Amino acid sequence: MKDILHELETRRGAARLGGGERRIEAQHGKGKLTARERIELLLDEGSFEEFDMFVAHRCTEFGMEKNRPAGDGVVTGWGTINGRMVYVFSQDFTVLGGSVSETHAQKICKIMDMAVQNGAPVIGINDSGGARIQEGVDSLAAYGEVFMRNIRASGVVPQISLIMGPCAGGAVYSPAMTDFIFMVKDSSNMFVTGPDVVKTVTNEQVTAEELGGALTHTRKSSVADGAFENDVEALAEVRRLVDFLPASNREKPPVRPFFDDPERIEPSLDTLVPDNPNMPYDMKELILKVADEGDFYEIQAEFAKNIITGFIRLEGQSVGVVANQPMVLAGCLDIDSSRKAARFVRFCDAFEIPILTFVDVPGFLPGTGQELGGVIKHGAKLLYAYGEATVPMVTVITRKAYGGAYVVMASKHLRGDFNYAWPTSEIAVMGSKGAVEILHRADLGDPEKIKRHTEEYEDRFANPFVAAERGFIDEVIQPRSTRRRVSRAFAALRTKRVELPWKKHDNIPL
Ligand code: HXC
Repeated sequence: MKDILHELETRRGAARLGGGERRIEAQHGKGKLTARERIELLLDEGSFEEFDMFVAHRCTEFGMEKNRPAGDGVVTGWGTINGRMVYVFSQDFTVLGGSVSETHAQKICKIMDMAVQNGAPVIGINDSGGARIQEGVDSLAAYGEVFMRNIRASGVVPQISLIMGPCAGGAVYSPAMTDFIFMVKDSSNMFVTGPDVVKTVTNEQVTAEELGGALTHTRKSSVADGAFENDVEALAEVRRLVDFLPASNREKPPVRPFFDDPERIEPSLDTLVPDNPNMPYDMKELILKVADEGDFYEIQAEFAKNIITGFIRLEGQSVGVVANQPMVLAGCLDIDSSRKAARFVRFCDAFEIPILTFVDVPGFLPGTGQELGGVIKHGAKLLYAYGEATVPMVTVITRKAYGGAYVVMASKHLRGDFNYAWPTSEIAVMGSKGAVEILHRADLGDPEKIKRHTEEYEDRFANPFVAAERGFIDEVIQPRSTRRRVSRAFAALRTKRVELPWKKHDNIPL
């Protein structure tokens, strides 16, 4: 028995060493942790249970029969994050460059199937040279199996991708179908075709970092939702995110202990909106002052900054926040912000996370760039996402709510449950300048008359009371009591149920 146990430990030891000391050193030399070190930091201490430690490939091409490392380049299993179960795979770049063989993919598929069956998130740590070249089409077929599972799991369990090394070619499409992608600055990249192919085909000279680094994907392409300084920070932030999410669509989001009075009054909010309607202010201040303990987990912080998306808690319950940001493009909706917010709203709705919307929106951004870029179709995404959402929705208009953008931003007309307005709100078809120029074109040469018309328009429409008279606003509230109001509203909505008519699936404008 002693010998048998010794044999087991020897085999385990060899498997845990992955590609060996030299390659582990090389991995560390690039500022990267190993696959196992990453799992250790991601999960609660001692909670990791491994599957398939001894799985080896069966390829016999190119002398591969002599190189059959245990585990085949990916560490898979399950463990807990703050006591809640998650499934995880972590590609081991030290073993054949973390490349994906048939058996490597089968290991990933196994834990994805278990995650869907048992209702727990899947966290994928990607660090791979892509399809294992020696396995040819078998490797491509194996990727296809992973893609199918990403699609099937979408909306069933949260899927989170960490990109911690290369991720190229068709391999990018597995993370692309997950709910969140996080990258590490300087050590990760994602592209469909790398710099060399780009140079050959289009004659463009570009570095891997420029083409598919963390900053490119968080600031320009919006492929990634966050960029972190190093592996340790990225793993810690994913732990924080998981705390906001339900384990699956069969469960409610977790309720965390909270130490912040839901009745807390914030007098400083009474002066958040400046007297001058054209002056910006920071909408994040409102979010932080409303959230339990001022804790806000922002998603896509570096992209389309004219809209803010992320998670807070109210009375310990997760809430998704969407808010126009007057500091950037005056908080206008445009192509990028509509796409960003629409995807976020749909995630929240799929996983029963209530949505809080703060509105200060002067309309859609005008311009040929927007129109030719399809702002009609992209703006419709956000409208559609809010309109089909059945989760509790609470909306607070702080200042401008003009035109179509007013309707889009979780208005009463899109089944908002509680629609509040601050007394500083202006709910109208458009701002006074634009309206007066259209209604009183004949007087445009007479500044006195224009001033009078403008005042008249502002008196009539630059307030929340016309909308409140019609019931489009449920209540005009004091800014200082926003946290209390929205907390009470969400508490009242915990039993909300909405049935939609049967359909195979919707046809959101893509
Ligand atoms: C087999 C691979 C591999 C691969 C790397 N390795 N990629 N083995 N299949 N795809 C091996 C290397 O041979 C090497 O083995 C070890 O991993 C480390 O690789 P290096 O090149 O030494 O590392 P580095 O210099 O850091 O470069 C990393 C890299 C490069 C940029 C990822 O290895 C690379 O370009 N690899 C090929 C990438 C690629 O074209 N993949 C196919 C993409 S298409 P030794 O034994 O020497 O240490 C794709 C399609 C998916 O993935 C389709 C889905 C439908």
